[in-house]
Amino acid sequence: MDVKTAIMARRSIRKYKQETVSEQIINELLEAARLAPSGTNHQPWRFIVVRDQKVKLQIQAVAFNQKFLSEAPVLLVCCADLMTYAKNTRKRLEELIDAGVMGPEAFDSYPGLDEAKDVEAVKGFIPHAMLNVALAMENIALRAVSLGLGTCIVQLMKAKKIAEILELPNNLVITALMPVGFPDQNPAPRPRVALEEIIYRTI
Ligand SMILES: Cc1cc2nc3c(=O)[nH]c(=O)nc-3n(C[C@H](O)[C@H](O)[C@H](O)COP(=O)(O)O)c2cc1C
Repeated sequence: MDVKTAIMARRSIRKYKQETVSEQIINELLEAARLAPSGTNHQPWRFIVVRDQKVKLQIQAVAFNQKFLSEAPVLLVCCADLMTYAKNTRKRLEELIDAGVMGPEAFDSYPGLDEAKDVEAVKGFIPHAMLNVALAMENIALRAVSLGLGTCIVQLMKAKKIAEILELPNNLVITALMPVGFPDQNPAPRPRVALEEIIYRTI
């Protein structure tokens, strides 16, 4: 399937068949996530693969009871690991400076990062980290379409409560949930604004 076909065929799927999704398929999806681009190549995405029905129901309960979360055979909890920024920033910047992409003044933008020992020091990276995880999630969504699977990005949820349920360390920040399964519905395309509306200006 070419990229345009996958983009056009993708829908948010909220009804899934009970058919199981193999570990091999989930690994295919996570491999697509792994290959996504990320700022300074930090690759902050981390995933919790939830198959346990009890855990899915607990998560659903703190996600406005969106029933398809527990009906999907697999629920991905998509997170950003903030500590990747503390651990890797100097190394990644050095790679970019060595490659001639930027000058050594790039270090000035990240004062004290090397000394960051805990998550408090890197909290400012949360929006950046979330953006990177979102790119990985779109890769998952499109790869899923190419494998005949459906997904839905779900952000209406209480991230802190889910982190408690999963006993996540505080360096993992939940970006969104992603149920995965074989679609049991075939929704029509949802409306989109016209191209002219999204081109704010051409200069
Ligand atoms: C950041 C984000 C958060 C979303 N959160 C939810 C959600 O909590 N529940 C839900 O059912 N759909 C959610 N969606 C799916 C959107 O409703 C859906 O993408 C939109 O209506 C367009 O439909 P389509 O994906 O089928 O093209 C979310 C999508 C995105 C990108």
